[in-house]
Amino acid sequence: MSLAPFKNAPSTDWKTEENKAALNRELGKVKEQFSSRYPLIISGEEIYTEKELTSINPSNHREVIGYVSQANQEHIDTAMDAAKKAYGSWSQYTFRQRALFLLKLGTIFRKRKMELMAWLIFESGKNAEEAEGEVNEAIDFLEMYARHAIELEKEAQLVPMDGGENRMIYLPLGVGVIIPPWNFPLAILTGLTVSAAVTGNAVLLKPSSATPVTAAKFMQLIAEAGFPPGVINFVPGPSGEIGDYMVMHKDVNFISFTGSKEAGLHIDELSHKRIPGQRWIKRMVGEMGGKGGIVVDETADLDAAADGIVASAFGYQGQKCSAGSRAIIHEEVYGQLVQKILERTKKLTLGPSVEGTDLGPVIDEKAFKKITEYIEIGKQEADLIWGGKSDKTEGYFIEPAVFIEASPHSTIMKEEIFGPVLAVCKVSSFEEGIRVYNDTEYGLTGAFYSRKRDRLDYASRHMVCGNLFLNSKCTGAVVGVQPFGGYYMSGTGSKIGTLEFLQNFVQPKTISEVL
Ligand code: ALA
Repeated sequence: MSLAPFKNAPSTDWKTEENKAALNRELGKVKEQFSSRYPLIISGEEIYTEKELTSINPSNHREVIGYVSQANQEHIDTAMDAAKKAYGSWSQYTFRQRALFLLKLGTIFRKRKMELMAWLIFESGKNAEEAEGEVNEAIDFLEMYARHAIELEKEAQLVPMDGGENRMIYLPLGVGVIIPPWNFPLAILTGLTVSAAVTGNAVLLKPSSATPVTAAKFMQLIAEAGFPPGVINFVPGPSGEIGDYMVMHKDVNFISFTGSKEAGLHIDELSHKRIPGQRWIKRMVGEMGGKGGIVVDETADLDAAADGIVASAFGYQGQKCSAGSRAIIHEEVYGQLVQKILERTKKLTLGPSVEGTDLGPVIDEKAFKKITEYIEIGKQEADLIWGGKSDKTEGYFIEPAVFIEASPHSTIMKEEIFGPVLAVCKVSSFEEGIRVYNDTEYGLTGAFYSRKRDRLDYASRHMVCGNLFLNSKCTGAVVGVQPFGGYYMSGTGSKIGTLEFLQNFVQPKTISEVL
């Protein structure tokens, strides 16, 4: 099999009348499927349960997107057995054979892009651009991991030895647990699931309870792509009831997680507890929160910086681990840049995501409460110059909030809010700006705007983050172009989309033979 060189999936202009009309037709078709019921999938079998997760439309909480069956601990035991059984044969496929399933799934995603976008727009409250970005990211993961898996099939280059032959091959780990987040319910779910599967493992997939219908749609496409039964088992349900139980299962060898810092640390702790009968030291691969920030010096292009700050703070309502929720600005340009940020923020539209607004709702009642509480804290700590009002009569809407004169030590400068809240802070030098930027427990995304080469180089060396952007926004890392992932409290340091990421899910074995 020879594959064309990898290319990122292309994006579309959703402002043209033709494209808007096509997307609206798809939204209409998807709406007709609202309130459908979706099963658990264990060993390819559909199991409908009495207890269900209800997925609601965050733009209009009277609308039910769908009801998704909920697994209990017995279902988890059954799914574990199914995964172990499927692992027996799936682990014997070659990497190349498994990669074909990913390529097939990629083709299905491309054909059904608009349908997938429509589900994302309704269930996660994304606008068309964000929804397409997400489907494209999922396609990129499929195409990229297929190619990397084929690389793993090649034997490592070892030092030759006279009179013998030595080889190093890669074995899968066994059965793993996949726990993706609600904010990229298709892209990250796809990436985490297929990276584990293409390396020969079998998994239990527990989607976020906020976006289980998108996950159920993914399972329908998995079946269409022909993945053997039991390789990917679908077990939605609450973390307290089944999440901990899965992580602590003696037969689970790895956990691949993306979500909040608190949940990630909890899983990390549980995964290190020794369970009677356990034969494997569990691996935990985690991508957690962030407190991204943008530092702007007095030489920077202020229009570009304002564009970058507003896009990073408010894209998808600030609900990205990569969000730039802090702007740290040199005092000489502070006033001017704040005006530019304000002008741009005032133009942002807010409303139901189907209406093509810049900002849609936040994901649910819990997020709404948490973000509005942070806005109240912000009012005590800094000056609110725009937005911050909220309304949950129909959907969970929060106006983008801009706080200025925030102290580097304030809560809104330190804690991840995961909502449309920007804290702006004034500094007297770019070095001080970088010190302020570094003063959080996270290390995920950052940006630095300057026209000075030596300062850009200084920022590259000193800003503590997994993804640093020079003179551009800090969100929207592109698969293969800007490998994404952080360290410190932001994660275990892996970069999604890379060959190294796949190596989390394999175990090298060296075979030496005397000839
Ligand atoms: N990968 C996502 C981004 O870069 C989180 O914004």
